[in-house]
Amino acid sequence: MTYIHGFSEEEQNRLLRQNEVLAPYIYKHQDFSLFHHLVEIGCGVGAQMITVLHQYPHLHLTGIELSSKQLQRAKTHLDHFPSFTGRFTLIEEDATRIKPRFTTPVDGAFMVWVLEHVPSPGALLANTCSWLPEGAPIWITEVYHPSFQVWPASTAIQEYWEDTLRYQRALGGDPSVGLYLANLLADAGFEDIQTTPHLFFLDQTRSEERAIMLAYWLNLMRSALHETLQAGYTTMDRWQNAEADMRDLIRNPEAVFYYSFIQATARRPV
Ligand SMILES: C[S@@+](CC[C@H](N)C(=O)[O-])C[C@H]1O[C@@H](n2cnc3c(N)ncnc32)[C@H](O)[C@@H]1O
Repeated sequence: MTYIHGFSEEEQNRLLRQNEVLAPYIYKHQDFSLFHHLVEIGCGVGAQMITVLHQYPHLHLTGIELSSKQLQRAKTHLDHFPSFTGRFTLIEEDATRIKPRFTTPVDGAFMVWVLEHVPSPGALLANTCSWLPEGAPIWITEVYHPSFQVWPASTAIQEYWEDTLRYQRALGGDPSVGLYLANLLADAGFEDIQTTPHLFFLDQTRSEERAIMLAYWLNLMRSALHETLQAGYTTMDRWQNAEADMRDLIRNPEAVFYYSFIQATARRPV
């Protein structure tokens, strides 16, 4: 599988740092306190599992991940925390095909930043619906990348961002997947579907949050550089211009950052 951010150690560390910034936003509206065993689909290097296992000390998590390299890293990260011992299981499998068997009953599933990279998100959701217990919930957090805007507007930032989105589409992913999660869930057989956009609108009234987000975003943009450049979807000049404008924004007390991600919940019908 080709992945726009690659599988380097630097990228694996970025996924962990990314979640330190984004987890408060992701889990603000998702409450797992009434559940005992959840499955994370596309668990990557375990960034979400670390957050959720800390936040819900009674939970058992099973992570399903396609890439053995990511999964090995997840195991190393999770083994690091003594309080996680015996509380997680990792499975290397393709979530579009797996029919997992669990030793303890599963209550539901969640996935974060996965469908954007999957060529057949509908097939992955339909397969998940087929093995979830009747009535079990699913929580999805996804990107809506075209919503990214800054003020003062920067052509260089917009052009580089568009380059990475074109490359993500060329790889079979979809940086707009968050927008039509309800359609995907309905087609996959789920019901009780609810979708919510969550907005980052960070201006001078939220300058600390804005500073953290702009620094994070510059890092996110850089993380796609190597693969996007190698594939010929951008140039070093375009990146350097975008990077310079991002640094100007970080210094500008009047800068504005705007982005929307999307969350959905649904249930397997009874
Ligand atoms: C952007 S990473 C997100 C990882 C993690 N959810 C997080 O938030 O840190 C997406 C992950 O989904 C995995 N993935 C993509 N397609 C998959 C599939 N069909 N089955 C299982 N995992 C998959 C990728 O290998 C990658 O590790």
